[in-house]
Amino acid sequence: MKAAVVASFGTAPRYEDFPAPAPGGAGEIVVDVLAAGLHPRVRSQADGSHYTSTGELPLVPGIDGVGRDADGRLRYFILPDTTIGAMAEQTVIDTRRSVVLPGDSDPVAVAAAMNPAMSSWVGLRQRVAFESGQKVLILGATGNAGQLAVQVAKLFGASEVIAAGRDAGKLPGLTDLGATETVVLDGSPEAAAQLGHAARDADVVIDYLWGQPAADALRAIIPARADDGQQLTWLQIGSVAGLTSPIPSAALRAARLQIVGSGQGSVSPRAILTELPALAAEITRGTFQVNARAVPLADVEQAWADAPGSSRRIVLVP
Ligand SMILES: NC(=O)c1ccc[n+]([C@@H]2O[C@H](COP(=O)([O-])OP(=O)(O)OC[C@H]3O[C@@H](n4cnc5c(N)ncnc54)[C@H](OP(=O)(O)O)[C@@H]3O)[C@@H](O)[C@H]2O)c1
Repeated sequence: MKAAVVASFGTAPRYEDFPAPAPGGAGEIVVDVLAAGLHPRVRSQADGSHYTSTGELPLVPGIDGVGRDADGRLRYFILPDTTIGAMAEQTVIDTRRSVVLPGDSDPVAVAAAMNPAMSSWVGLRQRVAFESGQKVLILGATGNAGQLAVQVAKLFGASEVIAAGRDAGKLPGLTDLGATETVVLDGSPEAAAQLGHAARDADVVIDYLWGQPAADALRAIIPARADDGQQLTWLQIGSVAGLTSPIPSAALRAARLQIVGSGQGSVSPRAILTELPALAAEITRGTFQVNARAVPLADVEQAWADAPGSSRRIVLVP
């Protein structure tokens, strides 16, 4: 079969022949892959930098996707840490880590949206005691996950969604998605003051940035809190601006701040799986605006070059 194959870390996958997979363990089946998203998590899998990487090569990247099983059913699937990923004509899935989709689902939209939408959906459901009426700030809201976080927070009943990002040109689009206020993160004192004011009574921060922007945001927000006793839960989800962050210790003492992460490990596979059917149903229903671009799997090398900075999620289609 044809697949995107990583032969060495540091070079883009190439469209090559790869041995067809065979089911091994209980619950495993082979599916024809219809669509696989090129998420940031897939790039870190393919360059060996993700914390789950075993260093094993060659590998077919792709952590999730939509496939058709032997009975003709569409399934969204999440793969375990494996060298036979989703970016191939076929892959092996565990049916227990999959969701059967309605027959009229758009495989590209589902493959594009599940991973980025899951970040806020699972975080707000499994790591935060989020309640309807609470106020949410999203740091890094212009990316695919951030855009979906705006919509997920609104769906979950957030009374206010403050969307912050560095690209001023993309912020008006977030208002169209449901953000009640936008803040440009340009490093200026004015922006810091606006962020502090906007988040003075926020309940949850969904942070895709980490690095210096997260530390700067805390310096702006904590002194501006209307009530130091009000819980502020900092949901750490992504680190596009830096793997480490110089968080001021005073931020943890001066307000009721709690920093929690959400991702593979801090949320169990079982807990993630419990959230998938409802999320897949919302995506299939068209609840969320999804920005996807389908690219033939044969063009995987070009897709790898195009993906960074794209506000449309590339989806490889075998
Ligand atoms: N833990 C989880 O469950 C989970 C699940 C899915 C994703 N994630 C993580 O969430 C993060 C975002 O994913 P995504 O799908 O939204 O990626 P994406 O579509 O590539 O978006 C990344 C965004 O980050 C912004 N950005 C990059 N560097 C920045 C910086 N230095 N300062 C401010 N903004 C910066 C970009 O801003 P511009 O718009 O200005 O270019 C872009 O909008 C990634 O780290 C991903 O691995 C985590």
